Amino acid sequence: MQPNHRDIERILVSEEQLKAKVAELGARISRDYAGKDLLMVSILKGSVVFMADLMRAVTIPCAIDFMVVSSYGSGTATSGLVKIIKDLDQDLSGKDLLIVEDILDTGVTLSNLVPMLRLRNPRSVRLCTILSKPSRRLADITADYCGFEVPDEFVVGYGLDYNERYRNLPYVGVLKPEVYSK
Ligand code: IMP
Ligand code: MG
Repeated sequence: MQPNHRDIERILVSEEQLKAKVAELGARISRDYAGKDLLMVSILKGSVVFMADLMRAVTIPCAIDFMVVSSYGSGTATSGLVKIIKDLDQDLSGKDLLIVEDILDTGVTLSNLVPMLRLRNPRSVRLCTILSKPSRRLADITADYCGFEVPDEFVVGYGLDYNERYRNLPYVGVLKPEVYSK
């Protein structure tokens, strides 16, 4: 077995399930945004795999952009600030923004980022995430498009990392506990 796969205890979302869901989300987005000025914004690095698949499942004209953000402080609901490490390249006025995320966990990052982006006068802002951990939510935020709800366990693969590893796994899985204690 390859070293990456060896560290996985169990698969939560298979490659086939991801593929089917991305096709479904792409079709919905293509219908919902027909005639609009769609700009898909990927929050790096976790959403890069999902973004690459999702944009090819979208059949209407769209533009893409990338952002790098980091949350300040302890990441609690009250810390309230996001630092923009890499900003968008383009003006947002009149654009229909679709934020593409890997996982909606506490929701703190996005609940702080969305108001900052709204100040730039996009026509609309919606959120699309491939994974969601509803039991961990601290901030009042929901995804307009959500792939799979996962339990409160640390997951890797399909873009998600542990110490920058496992992003290239084609499925979403749970790491073996001994990996953390290494
Ligand atoms: P939050 O919603 O502000 O708590 O932050 C979500 C971010 O934390 C995601 O974009 C991921 O980068 C990271 N994250 C949360 N849960 C996991 C996980 O289970 N595995 C890997 N990264 C995670
Ligand atoms: Mg992320």
